[in-house]
This record gives sequence, C-alpha cells and structure tokens, in this order.
Amino acid sequence: MEIEKKEIIICLGSSCFARGNKELVRLINDYLRQRNLLNDVRFHGERCFGHCSKGPVLKIVDQINEKVDEEKVLLLLDNFFTSYEQMAL
Ligand code: FES
Repeated sequence: MEIEKKEIIICLGSSCFARGNKELVRLINDYLRQRNLLNDVRFHGERCFGHCSKGPVLKIVDQINEKVDEEKVLLLLDNFFTSYEQMAL
C-alpha cells in the first residue's frame, strides 16, 4: 500500500520570493532532512497563490499561511508534524 505524502507548497512567485521565501526553501529542506521527513512529504514550489500583499505564503496540506518568516515557519512545521504524529497514534 502506498502511503500518501503530505504536501507542502512554497510560493515562488516574485513577491513572496523577494520577501523571504528564497531563504525559506533552504530552511524547510533542512528541517525535513534533519527530522527524516523527506520521504513523508512532497515539498515543492508553485507560482503565486493570489495572496501577494500578505506574503510570504506557505501552504501546508490545505492550510494557506501568510506573512511567514523564519521564526513562524519553524512553529508551523513543528505544530503540523506534532499534530500529525498524534493522529497516527
Ligand atoms: S507571489 Fe506569493 S502569493 Fe503572489
């Protein structure tokens, strides 16, 4: 049986890219690698979610997160994977 991967999508539209998502790509990849989550997650970029004025934008599964910075992204990922682990129990 194939396990469904959780999808994390970072906006790589020009506004979000310039506002910080360029750096968040590396940070999220490091986070996933350090926690051995690369096989559980499909992490990729897309162009513009239509929330440019509230960027940088990061979508975790079906949740769109706005004004994401380095501090907020770590909290979002910690919260997501903590609740995900609890649901798996
Ligand atoms: S560039 Fe990211 S929402 Fe438009």
